[in-house]
Amino acid sequence: MKFFIDTANLEQIKEAQALGILDGVTTNPSLMAKEGITGEANIINHYKAICELVDGDVSAEVISTNFDGMVKEGEALAALNPQIVVKLPMIKDGIKACKYFSSKGIKTNVTLVFSAGQALLAAKAGATYVSPFIGRLDDISTDGLNLISEIRLIYDNYGFQTQILAASVRHTMHIIDCAKLGSDVMTGPLSAIEGLLKHPLTDIGLAKFLEDYKKGN
Ligand code: E4P
Repeated sequence: MKFFIDTANLEQIKEAQALGILDGVTTNPSLMAKEGITGEANIINHYKAICELVDGDVSAEVISTNFDGMVKEGEALAALNPQIVVKLPMIKDGIKACKYFSSKGIKTNVTLVFSAGQALLAAKAGATYVSPFIGRLDDISTDGLNLISEIRLIYDNYGFQTQILAASVRHTMHIIDCAKLGSDVMTGPLSAIEGLLKHPLTDIGLAKFLEDYKKGN
């Protein structure tokens, strides 16, 4: 299972990278704005900075909502660095643009996916990644994890190569549940990733080992 961090915060990206388990980064316009990164030139520079920090795929989202705009923006983003994955919204022109980029060998991430049907279309269009937003489904009392299961079943039925990128991961249990359900990738905040480290028995056990070591020295 690949681990992506879902942030535009360079310090958090560095911290996750230093753990040695990071496979990539996802961003979106809201995450950029949260870090105060606004304006085309600043956003482009920020993508470049993120690519320098990590080895893996970095999703960069287009702002256009029509095919021509998405192609223009996506081509410019993809030219920044081979690590860039063009992130496209799950709308009609987004699917057309996904087909365009996949036929040119440019990596894509179809975002804002909330149904199995949308995920099926993204796979048919040759998406590299499909991003079902599990946390946002949970927010409206719909089982986000069930969507991961449905997509896994459909993709396995037909051998689709599109990778399921569980997005809108909010906490540590989401990561574990996505791993159980066979999600190829998860993207979440640093806090959810670091939550995997924690167990009280580990802390108690380590304290006891250190205490007993001191007794013998
Ligand atoms: C995915 O790529 C999105 O950036 C993200 O996971 C959205 O998560 P949110 O619902 O916590 O905003």
